[in-house]
Amino acid sequence: MQPGRLEELYEWLRIPSISTGGGDPADLQRAAEFAAGIIRRAGGEAELATINGGNPLVIGELRANSEAAPTVIIYGHYDVQDPGPLDAWKSPPFEPELREGRIYARGAADDKGNFYPLLLAACELAQSGELPVNVRVVIEGEEEAGGESVAAWVAADQRGADCAIVFDSAMEDQQTPAITIGLRGCVSSMITVKAQPRDLHSGLYGGSVQNALHVLQQILVPLLADSEGNLCDELRAGAEPPSAAELESWEKLRPGQEMLAEVAATPLTKNSGEDFRRRNGAEPSFEVNWIEGGAPRTVVPAQARAYVTVRLAPGQDAEQIEAEVHRMLRRGVPDGVEIEIDSHLATPSLFAADLPAIAIARDAISRASGMETALIRSGGSIPVVADFAAAGIPVIVSGFGLADDEIHAPNESFVLDHLDLSERCAREILLALAALPQE
Ligand code: BES
Ligand code: MN
Ligand code: MN
Repeated sequence: MQPGRLEELYEWLRIPSISTGGGDPADLQRAAEFAAGIIRRAGGEAELATINGGNPLVIGELRANSEAAPTVIIYGHYDVQDPGPLDAWKSPPFEPELREGRIYARGAADDKGNFYPLLLAACELAQSGELPVNVRVVIEGEEEAGGESVAAWVAADQRGADCAIVFDSAMEDQQTPAITIGLRGCVSSMITVKAQPRDLHSGLYGGSVQNALHVLQQILVPLLADSEGNLCDELRAGAEPPSAAELESWEKLRPGQEMLAEVAATPLTKNSGEDFRRRNGAEPSFEVNWIEGGAPRTVVPAQARAYVTVRLAPGQDAEQIEAEVHRMLRRGVPDGVEIEIDSHLATPSLFAADLPAIAIARDAISRASGMETALIRSGGSIPVVADFAAAGIPVIVSGFGLADDEIHAPNESFVLDHLDLSERCAREILLALAALPQE
């Protein structure tokens, strides 16, 4: 990276652009404007777009050096997760610090630091007159919050694009860059159970009245995985088994047991470690993320809440599974008890390995890095990817994070050297996409 660029990234990281609650809208605005400034200084155009009062989108254009060039969208998100308990951070989350070759900061890997080299590669190619594709920059500020602005923008943009590049994912390992061809979707639900108007004395009323925590726990049980670790057929509807060729390609990657051991996790079942790639890439899963209710004293809780998520495998329909989740939850609610369910959806995605954009990017990353590029699936979700796919835009999902970057947790970090590695790969992808067949 050019001198001064690391400081520029640090400046971006210093803005606490938290979208997951408790963030200051002015900081989100500042982080968006900061990104727009980078594009403008490279000679491009950039503006902020706000849709239905959401966090601003950064929409930019960097023009190709020739007529009739393909159009490539580059996407990243400037919003970050809440940093969580500050005393768990070795250095403050919004004061980037370099330690042992890693940049520590909230957003260092997810996604400012991961996306920045892609933005930089496009800006520098544009400035030197070498950019062979039109680049449309889309940077959103609601990715971590399940916001709808970017989906609305993609659906409304009649111009379309020949492909999109999303840098918000990870390498397979430090010796293996990757393109993430599969991402899971998500049905996230906040559930509120109300048994009666107020908490009651558990001696005077307990045994004769409904307990909201009991009801909540009971309605969640049918959604849990069985003893083999599988969800029920209703929640698995539409999940497509991976092809023999894909299963074979996974055999060449690091064993799943190792990936669980790396984070000191306890496997769900005897073979969920060795089956990790299929389970997290091609199967849905259900998690209770949070539960609240009652108090550590003798009360019958009147109200209880839970936040739960079903991750969807490629092939599954988010609205269909949402309806199933609601049906399963409501089925177990006793007469007289009220339930409210508020859900948000993200559609899963899967791209064919032989799509021209994916094949071109894979070769480009291998050339620029000198390492063989793997095609992998991630169990995580990047909602906009399915929105691009629905608009007929193939998506190259990549990035240079690692499994131990601790995204969403305290002490998030990004390997310093991966900024250069990523920029080299991004530059090579953009140059190679000149050969992309156009609509
Ligand atoms: N960048 C992550 C997802 C990710 C991480 C994909 C690593 C591939 C590899 C993204 O910012 C994220 O956290 N997404 C949320 C989406 C949710 C709020 C709908 C997720 O997966 O929980
Ligand atoms: Mn991200
Ligand atoms: Mn994230």
